[in-house]
Amino acid sequence: MLLTTRYRDRSNVMALSWVTPVSLRPPMVAVSVQRGCLSHDYIERSGQFSLSVPGPSQIRQVRDAGLLSGKDVDSKFAEVGLKAIGGDALAVPLVAECLAYLECAVTEAYEVGEDHTLFVAEVVGAQADDGAFGESWLLPAAGRRPLHHLGGHLYSVLSGVTSAAPEEEEG
Ligand SMILES: Cc1cc2nc3c(=O)[nH]c(=O)nc-3n(C[C@H](O)[C@H](O)[C@H](O)COP(=O)(O)O)c2cc1C
Repeated sequence: MLLTTRYRDRSNVMALSWVTPVSLRPPMVAVSVQRGCLSHDYIERSGQFSLSVPGPSQIRQVRDAGLLSGKDVDSKFAEVGLKAIGGDALAVPLVAECLAYLECAVTEAYEVGEDHTLFVAEVVGAQADDGAFGESWLLPAAGRRPLHHLGGHLYSVLSGVTSAAPEEEEG
């Protein structure tokens, strides 16, 4: 996942694995972001962030967005080779190359442990490549499947689907 932020006229992007849905009504997500990174600072100041779901062709950009800090470069978007596009709902940019997007307005923030903040946010905008995501991820050609971070330097894309629909819902 790529987390994007904006504060005044500066935008930033970072790699993020620690994210989960936490409510359906309204739709809400939570992200855990380490204190001290630039994205944390921008989320605190603006109360907003967006999430962009990359595919396997963005693997190097995801890695680099997770290695570099926006504190050390003029523009991390340019530095890692990602294009920023405008969102629908917020002033926070989205990552053009990605498959799906959530725009998020922070409602609560909890300091967790010694080093992270859990930001809980309402999803105020959502878009997806409709060839890649319908009611669920569709897993079309490999290039349009979401990139998963397995931990460390390892990533994967899902390779198959198994339905566990209750019998009465089956054709
Ligand atoms: C694949 C990947 C996943 C990551 N997930 C998280 C995460 O969930 N939370 C977090 O705080 N940092 C995570 N990081 C580390 C940040 O992306 C990294 O600290 C980044 O340099 C912060 O950038 P910034 O200072 O520009 O905000 C991850 C890094 C990688 C490579």
